Amino acid sequence: MRENSFSLNDIVFPLFVDEKAEQHIPIPHMPGIYRIPLRLLQNEIKSLANLGLKAVLLFGVSNHKDELGSDSWSSDGLVARMVSVAKDSAPEMLIIADCCLCEYTTHGHCGIFQKGEVDNDGTLLNLARQAVVAANSGADIIAPSSMMDGQVSYLRRALDQAGHTATPIMSYSSKFASSLYGPFRSAAGCGLSGDRLTYQMDPLNGREALRESLADEAEGADILMVKPGLPYLDVIAKLRERTDLPIAAYQVSGEYAMIKFASMAGAIDEHRVVRETLGAFKRAGADLIISYFAKDIAQYGLNAPLS
Ligand code: PBG
Ligand code: ZN
Repeated sequence: MRENSFSLNDIVFPLFVDEKAEQHIPIPHMPGIYRIPLRLLQNEIKSLANLGLKAVLLFGVSNHKDELGSDSWSSDGLVARMVSVAKDSAPEMLIIADCCLCEYTTHGHCGIFQKGEVDNDGTLLNLARQAVVAANSGADIIAPSSMMDGQVSYLRRALDQAGHTATPIMSYSSKFASSLYGPFRSAAGCGLSGDRLTYQMDPLNGREALRESLADEAEGADILMVKPGLPYLDVIAKLRERTDLPIAAYQVSGEYAMIKFASMAGAIDEHRVVRETLGAFKRAGADLIISYFAKDIAQYGLNAPLS
């Protein structure tokens, strides 16, 4: 009589690829998660595929930052190199390329940053350049995460013009200006001064979050995403009633840290809590779950009972 189930088909593992690291570098606030050196990415992807994982979401840790984030669309830049290495390592693995500029800009904002503001429309061209480079390098899905207005239709047009008519867009469509991204920012080396409140969503606005996601659907998104996950199950559930597109839930770095540290302190049983959170995403209506627990889950299995 169990209503929901999940399998590795539903789960995406985010990876941080560091172009200058020699060894795996532990991320202090995400025990068990490492920056993967680009030179070891091939082995990493192969071993994830052997574990049964089906999809990874790639983030670059750049050593070539500038004001605009131009390395991200250079044909021999980090996005191009990490995507093509990943795709060649295990062709059956779905390679999702995060598409944003904050990991490649010196100021850490998700777009062109001038006079204390992000230039929404100017940023679109640079995102499109990056998306086309990622698709040219073999990315199976492009995942724009900058929350610039109009990014989905702009990227759709650019991808189509470059011949990538069959490359889907997974939009970070309802992305909140959350305090749960802290560990990610140190992991990706993209701390910033100020905040992202002019482009990310106010955590107190549920209706606006639906509007943002539905606007991305109208612009041609193929998959919608709600991020973070657990504190925003209401948004997932309401969105489920308003769209027939697949919905992804992103269990973000701070959610991972909360569960890991609580279990390390002996306060909770990690595996059971992880399964319970995955179940919550499914109950709310998510089809895909992006989680830093993906590798652990592949190792300890999903089939043990929830209680
Ligand atoms: C940047 C980006 C962020 C995350 C994914 N893409 C951070 C941010 O918006 O500041 C957060 C992921 C996480 O915390 O796990 N575009
Ligand atoms: Zn960003």
